Amino acid sequence: MTDHLDTLTIADTVALGSGSGFWATKSVGSAPSIVLTDGPHGVRSLVGSEDSLNIFNAQPATCFPPAVSLGQSWDPELLQRVGSALGREAQALGVHVLLGPGINIKRDPRCGRNFEYYSEDPFISGVLGAAWVNGVQGEGVGASVKHFAVNNQEFDRMEISADVDPRTLREIYLRAFQRVVTEAKPWTIMAAYNRINGVHAAQNRWLLTDVLRQEWGFDGVVVSDWGAVSDRVAAVAAGTDLEMPGTGGATDAEAVAAIQAGTLDRADAERAARRVSDLAQRATDAHRPGAEFDADAHHALAREAAGRSIALLKNDANTLPLEATAPVAVIGAFARAPRFQGGGSSQIVPTRLDTPWGRIQERAPLAVYAEGFTLDGSGDAQALRVEAVAAASASTAAVVLLGLPEAGDSEGADRTHIDLPEEQLELLAAVAAAQPRTIALVMHGGVVRLARVADLVPALLDTALLGQAGGAAIADVLFGDVNPSGKLTETVPERLEDTPSYLTFPGELGHVRYSEGIHVGYRWFDARDIPVTFPFGHGLSYTTFEYGDLTATVTDAGDVLARIPLTNTGARAGREIVQLYLSLPSSTVTRAPQHLVGFSSVELEAGETREVVIRVDRADIAYWNTTVDQWIVEDGDYVFTAAASSRDLRSRAEVHITGDAVRVPLTLNSYFSELLSDPAAVAVVAEAFAASFGDMAESGDGIDMTALMGSMPIGRLVSFSAGAVTREQLLQLIGAVNSAAPENAPIPS
Ligand code: BGC
Repeated sequence: MTDHLDTLTIADTVALGSGSGFWATKSVGSAPSIVLTDGPHGVRSLVGSEDSLNIFNAQPATCFPPAVSLGQSWDPELLQRVGSALGREAQALGVHVLLGPGINIKRDPRCGRNFEYYSEDPFISGVLGAAWVNGVQGEGVGASVKHFAVNNQEFDRMEISADVDPRTLREIYLRAFQRVVTEAKPWTIMAAYNRINGVHAAQNRWLLTDVLRQEWGFDGVVVSDWGAVSDRVAAVAAGTDLEMPGTGGATDAEAVAAIQAGTLDRADAERAARRVSDLAQRATDAHRPGAEFDADAHHALAREAAGRSIALLKNDANTLPLEATAPVAVIGAFARAPRFQGGGSSQIVPTRLDTPWGRIQERAPLAVYAEGFTLDGSGDAQALRVEAVAAASASTAAVVLLGLPEAGDSEGADRTHIDLPEEQLELLAAVAAAQPRTIALVMHGGVVRLARVADLVPALLDTALLGQAGGAAIADVLFGDVNPSGKLTETVPERLEDTPSYLTFPGELGHVRYSEGIHVGYRWFDARDIPVTFPFGHGLSYTTFEYGDLTATVTDAGDVLARIPLTNTGARAGREIVQLYLSLPSSTVTRAPQHLVGFSSVELEAGETREVVIRVDRADIAYWNTTVDQWIVEDGDYVFTAAASSRDLRSRAEVHITGDAVRVPLTLNSYFSELLSDPAAVAVVAEAFAASFGDMAESGDGIDMTALMGSMPIGRLVSFSAGAVTREQLLQLIGAVNSAAPENAPIPS
């Protein structure tokens, strides 16, 4: 605890709980002021800027690949290195807390901010988010994990209530946050704009205090998303420590008045002030005045990260890589003006920008460029197409760069469809008809429909958004200097209509109902056996990998160790992302057919074999049981599958896992069958029946006890026995059974 806070007035205490202007905390007493800014794929510092809202006026910083691409690397070690570089830039740019990572789940492909998030899957989102936080914080800069929670759309973003059932909340929408909080201990977490089941995140005590602090042990600062607080007093009481941006004292006055009126506990405001003060002190102590960053080294890292994030979705007959000595036609305006980031608060002013055309040209002197289409739709589309087709026919290969317009990926707006512009598809068809060796390359933040593209061309590269060094990374992959190894972290559907939330997104009248439940992303497509264009986890390489036989064993600690030999059977070195999926066919609850519980990113030389070992924590085998409000591991024969994608399953192993011995406490509403299925209960029941109901059972008064028992709630026996059995007797029986629980299986209260 920061000692000086004891002497602060109520006004000063409360003042610490809101910002000074847009990007800083207040200096109060001995608590220093610190700077917080976006995030996540670059440091957007407006320190010293006159105009604190003009994001285009930020100081130049490295624009690393946004989360949509970084996610495709499946490489926590890489994300940690990117995080460290961001931390160093934050130090140099006078930033104490970087607002990221964004780890919301891509519930619907239309969400305008999907480019800021990693995946439709909570496991990989959490693993990558934790690595990023470790990197940033390792440099003495705080992270702010966002947007907590269930912030999965831009429509009505500050008021909509995401209505989600408890199990889906825990297993899908809170799971990644839980992992990052418990594994990486972020200094701050950002409360989202939206409501969750009716209550705004920033005023949601269950979320911010019961779950985040009491269950997960979070000890940092909860900062509101910018403008997320609609009621400061309720926010402080719920556990929001810092309201951002500053409100010029307006909401501080409300909090002071509430404390004086006795409607806000002073201790809540003091707790918040203490946390903000501790954060400010910690960040100031870790700050390195005069620090600099190596822009060249960071650009090189951005290039490496971009190269590891590109996913090769199709490569018939080894269409790629290209020979740098041959003439190649590079087609599409994106070659000169690449999409490399999305719009909104995460937008970075890059230190430099590699264009694909610039870098391809350097590498392949005979390359020619044709615009193909204009970004704003102006110009003579027909003439541009004719020129592109001519360039393609005169070359030995064509690379066509397609993509979403900039407005297609932006904070503040969702998309209404997932199609690429028709003009671009027509161009691709014309080029592919003229040049059989045509490679399509797609730039986008949100997922786009690729069925038609994939039909037209023998090779397809998904670059998503690659950051400022993407142009170089594209050239690296096209010419084989880098062997592509990224894999999708989001399913590419055949049609928007196939997607899980098609009918409920983005909601209406203030509510969006998550009626698909836990079946988000591949969980949905698999459960309904819906064909997809490219499945979750898909990505090819210029080499090939052979998977051996998977074995799975349970360790003494209850975790599972999966081992599988992996061989690079091709002619060049490459990296394979081995995925591990889990199923429990005998489950007593609804489950997805399989879900991701582990992965490993492995580099192999040509011909090399290595054993890949993946550890699965017991915690990741559990499901959220809504009867006892706990994570429970079911007893059963679990199937682990090693896979190259969620639909390219290579080897499976079955292992028995002993379930958790947690017993559901019985109530008067429990069925007799539940009571009798519990071995501990049988003895108690037998005794109780003999003592209490023996006469009735023997009297043969028309009640067939055995037939009734199974399907009747225990409490109904009072009426069915016409009062012969009393409620008190039953309560006594239930109490005896409940307290007969074995010691290692506490009955939750
Ligand atoms: C965004 C956050 C961002 C904040 C500060 C909000 O509009 O939702 O992601 O960190 O602004 O720029």
